[in-house]
Amino acid sequence: MSVLKIELAGSPILKKESEPVKKITSKLRQLLDDMADTMYKSNGVGLAAPQIGQNIRMVVVDVGDGLIELINPKILSKEGTCVDTEGCLSVPTMTGEVERAEKIEVEFLNRFGKKKILQANELLARCIQHEIDHLDGILFIDIAKNLQASQPETDEDWEK
Ligand code: CO
Repeated sequence: MSVLKIELAGSPILKKESEPVKKITSKLRQLLDDMADTMYKSNGVGLAAPQIGQNIRMVVVDVGDGLIELINPKILSKEGTCVDTEGCLSVPTMTGEVERAEKIEVEFLNRFGKKKILQANELLARCIQHEIDHLDGILFIDIAKNLQASQPETDEDWEK
């Protein structure tokens, strides 16, 4: 378990589309452990592999209900929309308002290669959509409105 360096906005790796995982090796499981360590150490609620310099389709999230690891996540359906404030460990100086689907159904593989389907809403749905955007080379600042300098001491928003 180790804490990895987080790529910041401006790094070309964050703008690239990530490749699907073909085979889940012990090395990739180690990387998932390190991603979770890095996320918790940084007080984030989500982290995508490109943020630690790997263009592969893996994401970790924890919005307070426990760690979820998603390999090759794919959104099957979306319902409703809502706008809320987001931040990002790769853009530590800004927050902005982003419109997302309110509820999603997402399919993914767990670390043992088992196919899972998860229904998510509210913060978890938002977080998963934000992280999947990372896998497609999209940062929240690319789609946000009302970007502002973040205020860490008063801002209780996620991924900050
Ligand atoms: Co992010």
